[in-house]
Amino acid sequence: MPRFSDETIREIRFRNNIEDVISQYVQLKRAGSNSVGLCPFHSEKSPSFTVFSKSDSFYCFGCGAGGDVISFIRRAEALDYPEAIEFLAKRAGITVVQNEYDKETAKRRERILQMNKEAARFFHNCLFDEKLGKEGLRYLTEERGLSLTTIRYFGLGFAPDSFNMLTDHLKRLGYADYELSTAFLAGISPKNNRPYDYFRNRVIFPIISTSGDIIAFGGRVMDDSKPKYLNTSDTPVFKKSRNLFALNYAKKSCEEQLVLCEGYMDVIALHAAGFTNAVATLGTAITSEHARLMTRYTKSVVISYDSDEAGQNAANKAFIQLGAVGLEARVLQMSGAKDPDEYIKKFGKDRFAELLKATKSEFEFKFDAVLSKYDINTTDGRVKALDEAIRILSSVSSRSLRDVYIGIVATRLSVTADSLKFDVERRIKKNDGLNKRKESERMIAASQGYGDRVNPDFAKNPKAASAEEQILGILLIHPEYLREMKNRNIVLLPEDFFTEFSRKIFTSMVSFESEFDISLLGESLTVEEVDRLQKLRMHREELSDNKIETLTALIGVLKDSAGKKELTLEELIASKRKKIKKDET
Ligand code: GTP
Ligand code: MN
Repeated sequence: MPRFSDETIREIRFRNNIEDVISQYVQLKRAGSNSVGLCPFHSEKSPSFTVFSKSDSFYCFGCGAGGDVISFIRRAEALDYPEAIEFLAKRAGITVVQNEYDKETAKRRERILQMNKEAARFFHNCLFDEKLGKEGLRYLTEERGLSLTTIRYFGLGFAPDSFNMLTDHLKRLGYADYELSTAFLAGISPKNNRPYDYFRNRVIFPIISTSGDIIAFGGRVMDDSKPKYLNTSDTPVFKKSRNLFALNYAKKSCEEQLVLCEGYMDVIALHAAGFTNAVATLGTAITSEHARLMTRYTKSVVISYDSDEAGQNAANKAFIQLGAVGLEARVLQMSGAKDPDEYIKKFGKDRFAELLKATKSEFEFKFDAVLSKYDINTTDGRVKALDEAIRILSSVSSRSLRDVYIGIVATRLSVTADSLKFDVERRIKKNDGLNKRKESERMIAASQGYGDRVNPDFAKNPKAASAEEQILGILLIHPEYLREMKNRNIVLLPEDFFTEFSRKIFTSMVSFESEFDISLLGESLTVEEVDRLQKLRMHREELSDNKIETLTALIGVLKDSAGKKELTLEELIASKRKKIKKDET
C-alpha cells in the first residue's frame, strides 16, 4: 500500500512548479516551450539537461537522468521518496496527511530512534560506571587522550562484556526482540531464537543525524583484536552511504569548508582541537550520495585521509565523487603521522592548522605523487614521469588551468612548454578517439541490454525487450490507449511481457482505476527506473508515429519474438565492425 494518497502527490506536483524548483539548482535558459541548462547530475560543458513544461518533466540527454519534480528532488537532495515528498510539501507549505500505513511506518521508525536513544544513554552510563566501564574510560582517556568534556560532547559510551545487559535493559523498557534486531542492537541466536547484545566489550561512538536523532553506533575494540570496528548496518533509520559522522556538529561551522576524514577518532580529535568542521564517512568509501549531501552545507571540501597508500588511493576516488557534484576539493597531506588524530597528538593543533593552509589541488596532488615515484635525475625516470604527467594533464578539462599546469610540469621536468603542450593535445585527441570507440562498443552492448541494471532481462531477448519498452513508451504518452485497446479487443496481458521490469510497470499501469499517471508510480520505483521510463517516453516522443496501430504492431512483434534466440554480443560487435569497415572503404 502506498504511503501517500494520489491526491497528495498530485497536490505536491501542482504546487511545486518543476521549472521553479529546478531553477534553484540549475541556471535554465528558455528554448522554445522548454528550458535547458547544465545537468546537475553529471559534469558537462554544453547543456543537455532539458525541462519540459508541457509534461512537467525533465530529461538529460547526456546522462539519462529524468522524471518528474519528485524524482528530481530525490536525486538533487539525496532523499528517498517519502523524504522528497516531505521536502516538497514543506516548500509549498502543504501539510501531508499521512495514511494508516504511513502512520504505522513513522511510528516504527520513531520507536527505533527512541530505543537508540535509550541504548546511547545505557552505553554512556556504563562508561562512567565504576565497575563496568573502568576499562573503557581508561582506554578513551589514557590511551586515546580524550578529555571528559570531549567524551560527553560526543556522547561516547561503553558496551559491557556481556551478551544480555543491553538486551535485558531494552526489553524491560518494552521493546520487542524484532525491534532490537531491526535496529542492529541485538543479533538473534539461531540456537534458541533469543536476542543477544551485538556490541560487547567495545567503546561506543553514537552516530547522530543532522536533525539530532541517534541513528546508529560504531563500536571499537580496545586492543588489536578483529574486527576493529563494528558498525550498525543499514536500518529503517540509517543508511551508511548517506550519513556522515559528526555532520550534526560540523554543519554549524562548515560554510567555508568541510574537512573529510576516514575515521571516527580523527574527527573527534579534530573537533577537540577546535577544527569543528570535520566529518567522516562511516566505515565505507565516499559515495555520490555523501558528496551530494555535502553540497547542502558547503562549497569546498578538504580531503584529509590517512597518509598510507590506501588513504592516498582513497583520496583519488574522493576527488572523482566530489568533482562530479561540483564541490571544490583539495587534499591535505601529512608526514610523520598515520592520520589526523595521531598528527595532532604528536605535533599539536597549530601544526595541523598549517597543513590546512597548505592543501593541494587535484593536479598538484597527482603530479607530486608522480615526482615522488620516479627519480627524475635519471633519463629513464624523467621519461616515465613525463608520460604520466601527460596523462594527468590530458584529463584537466579547463584549457586555461591546463596551460598553467603545463608550465609547472615543463619547468619541473626541464622540457619546453610548447612541446609538452603539443604532446598533451595529441594525447587528448587519442583519448577522444579511444573514448569514442569504447563508447560505440558500449552503445552496441547497451542496445542489446548488456550491463543494463534497470532491466537486467533485456539482453536475454533484445527484440522482445525492445518491443515491450516501446509499448511502454507509447502508453506513457497515451495512457488513454489502455481504454481504447479494450474497445478494440486488443489483448495485452502482464504475462505477455518478457522482462520482469516491463511486466512490473505494465502491471501497475493497468491496476489504476482512473487514468494511469507516471508520477503516481514513483514510490515503488528507484530513481534509475524513473529515468528509464522518462527515456522511453522521450524516445517515442521524438517519433511522430505513436498511433494506436503502431502499438498494435509492436504487440505483435512482442508476441512473435518472445522465445526466439538472438546473436551473442561478440557476434553482434563483430558484425557491426565488419559493416563499419565496409562503409569506410
Ligand atoms: P583508530 O585505529 O582507533 O585510530 O581508528 P580509526 O578511526 O583511525 O580507524 P581506521 O583508520 O583504521 O579506519 C577508518 C574507519 O573505517 C573507522 O573509523 C571505521 O569507521 C572504519 N573501520 C575500520 N575498521 C573497520 C572494521 O573492521 N569494520 C568496519 N565495519 N569498519 C571499520
Ligand atoms: Mn586512527
